[in-house]
Amino acid sequence: MSKYIINGGKRLVGQVEVPSAKNAVLPILAGCILTDEQVVIHKCPKLRDVDNMLKILQGLGCIIEREGTDVIINSSNVSHGIVSHDLAQELRSSIFLLGSILARIGKADMAYPGGCEIGLRPIDIHLEGLKALNIEVIEDGGHIYCDASNIKASDLILDLPSVGATENLMMAAVFAKGKTIIRNVAREPEIADLQDFLNSMGAKIRGAGSGVIVIEGVKSLHGVEYTPMPDRIAAGSYIISTVMCGGDVEFNNIIPEHLRSLVSKLSKTACNISVKNGIMKVRSNGRHPRLPKIDTMYYPGFPTDLQSQITALATICDGTSIITENIFETRFKQISEFRKMGAKVEVKGRTAIIEGVSRLSGAEVTAEDLRGGASLVSMGLFADRTTIVSDIYHIERGYEGMDVIYTSLGASIVRQD
Ligand code: EPZ
Repeated sequence: MSKYIINGGKRLVGQVEVPSAKNAVLPILAGCILTDEQVVIHKCPKLRDVDNMLKILQGLGCIIEREGTDVIINSSNVSHGIVSHDLAQELRSSIFLLGSILARIGKADMAYPGGCEIGLRPIDIHLEGLKALNIEVIEDGGHIYCDASNIKASDLILDLPSVGATENLMMAAVFAKGKTIIRNVAREPEIADLQDFLNSMGAKIRGAGSGVIVIEGVKSLHGVEYTPMPDRIAAGSYIISTVMCGGDVEFNNIIPEHLRSLVSKLSKTACNISVKNGIMKVRSNGRHPRLPKIDTMYYPGFPTDLQSQITALATICDGTSIITENIFETRFKQISEFRKMGAKVEVKGRTAIIEGVSRLSGAEVTAEDLRGGASLVSMGLFADRTTIVSDIYHIERGYEGMDVIYTSLGASIVRQD
């Protein structure tokens, strides 16, 4: 298994070109099968989750080519809507292919996507939403069979603002005759990016970013070339590492609005964050005063996907930090590895209580999930001596070339196969 070998204690100085967002690219790739014309996705990140999504699309009959950072998708041969068990397990977020398959093919047979390290990841809101569109949904033997022959534009409300369910239903309704209204939807920026992508193909969708999305059914969608939004979570992860290690880093290809909740929390600590001509500068003198209380929340609240990373920062902040994870039920699993590096963290239910320490010591640790793994790397960059992070395949699901980026900032980190 691959690992990162990190020698800590270096300040981070330089520039980061923020990559395209994994959580925007995945639903956009699912949306590519909504047209039988060619779609080109520019600046498509090389990530395991993206590779798995492309494998699933190929399984549906898509022809996929990669040219540098472009991915070219031709869906004219898409002929069935079957997503195999192992691929659905490998990529949980394949569930929002249901919507695009039903819109394109009318029928779907998908194995139940598994839960993962951070929680059960139920899909009840996805399925209730499809049923509200008069789509027949049968769950049998770990498979979901859907028939959208009688799909009907409807006015429906989600029990909670699920990101994936919002994306799934937007795509399911894109050709449904009439007006579909979906209420209590997620407001994450990735939803607006999907709306922009689909509208650039000829869809008629509005309201992304607000609590209500309206889809007017159209007859068909045409091909397009599209560049997804920058990855606010990858950017936030590198910003937090800069605050932890001390340094002076400029972030290009960033949308400051997407990071308002993180910036507002960090600006109360010892770093200086400024934005000019679309470039975000993060300067940190390496001091870590007390962190304000953090509650993860739906967007625009503090993102659950930065919870592990801000908890890593909290381990070296003055005083006691309180961080509550309100979105997923088991997203503190990485804490046991944090403790191996000298962190003092207690977890009570959904709240982590962190007693800041001035030093962390390098150790052999194991990534348990995508964001937890990224946090261990940040701690290794700060810690004394050497940290070895194993099972970095978790990290490579969502971070392209993390070692290359940190090395370019002056860190000592080597990827070992
Ligand atoms: C998306 O997952 C992201 N993944 C997650 O990022 C992110 O953490 C999450 O949104 C929340 O922002 C992608 O976009 C590929 P949800 P998703 O449905 O859509 C419950 C990462 O690290 N729920 O908004 O699966 C669910 O259990 C990943 O990049 C139901 O109860 O998240 C959770 O508690 C991790 N029933 C809450 O809603 C459902 O049918 C939010 O989940 C669906 C969700």
